[in-house]
Amino acid sequence: MADSIKVLAGNSNRALTEAIAAYIGIPLTKAQVRRFADMEVFVEIQENVRGKDTFIIQSTSFPANDHLMELLIMTDALRRASARRITAVIPYFGYARQDRKPGPRTPISAKLVANLITRAGADRVLTVDLHAGQIQGFFDIPVDNLYAAPVMVRDIKERLSLAEPCVVSPDVGGVVRARALAKRIDAPLAIVDKRRERAGESEVMNIIGEVEGKSCILVDDIVDSGGTLCNAADALIKQGAKEVYAYITHGVLSGGAVARISSSSIKELVLTDTIEPTAAVRVSKNIRVISIAPLIGEAIARTAKEESVSSLFD
Ligand code: R5P
Repeated sequence: MADSIKVLAGNSNRALTEAIAAYIGIPLTKAQVRRFADMEVFVEIQENVRGKDTFIIQSTSFPANDHLMELLIMTDALRRASARRITAVIPYFGYARQDRKPGPRTPISAKLVANLITRAGADRVLTVDLHAGQIQGFFDIPVDNLYAAPVMVRDIKERLSLAEPCVVSPDVGGVVRARALAKRIDAPLAIVDKRRERAGESEVMNIIGEVEGKSCILVDDIVDSGGTLCNAADALIKQGAKEVYAYITHGVLSGGAVARISSSSIKELVLTDTIEPTAAVRVSKNIRVISIAPLIGEAIARTAKEESVSSLFD
């Protein structure tokens, strides 16, 4: 296998790519992804990839457009270099939250991005915790959507010994994801239901489920500004929760999110490394990062051997 598969890194998350290559047991394919003076992206693959099964690892995280463009141009370079198959491994698929028209005359950018990746020449996509499973249908090529849940469950079992755990979805949209994790650790489920009863009135946070005296574990796909998470944590504490932990797949963490989380009632936020942790994340006292590299590495190895990927989650 080592001879026929090639793993290439974009600039979005070099550490994750190296960890994935180490898991598979192959060196990264030599390639340069750099900028011209006017910031155009230039790619040069410095090894023969003719007839190879190739995997480009690139999250479309901040700066999202630059990283997306790198992914597209690397795909083009591989296609023109006669790679046999190109898999776009996108640990964090940005633009996923733009998966519907929120109002008249607005785009569905997640679909546009799917079209761009396909038209650039990708044969398959491998991603983690898509914001909405239906986004797989935006692609007319196979998409493997890996779940971070087993990695989180292992961490919860190893690190937390909670007498009375309760898994909580911070909004109604995340219930399916939270319920799946609750089932895996055999814990009850609660839901934070945000509602604005009347226009002009502030939002009310209702908790559906019993959280009093419980150790709550908030579960979500994305933490961006941190607003959803911190507000949910406050509501749980107000409702009598003993303590609040959070497990989130993608740490987008824009603006002052890290500071907001540091001064929140969240005891610990655990993120995966689908997005490269910033220096602020690395030094934060209540944020810890666990690696998704073995899961992605195993999925790549299985894809290369034409083995089942879904059985990773049985
Ligand atoms: C929304 O549907 C997502 O699942 C996250 O809850 C959301 O993106 C988090 O955003 P923020 O951290 O800005 O509240």
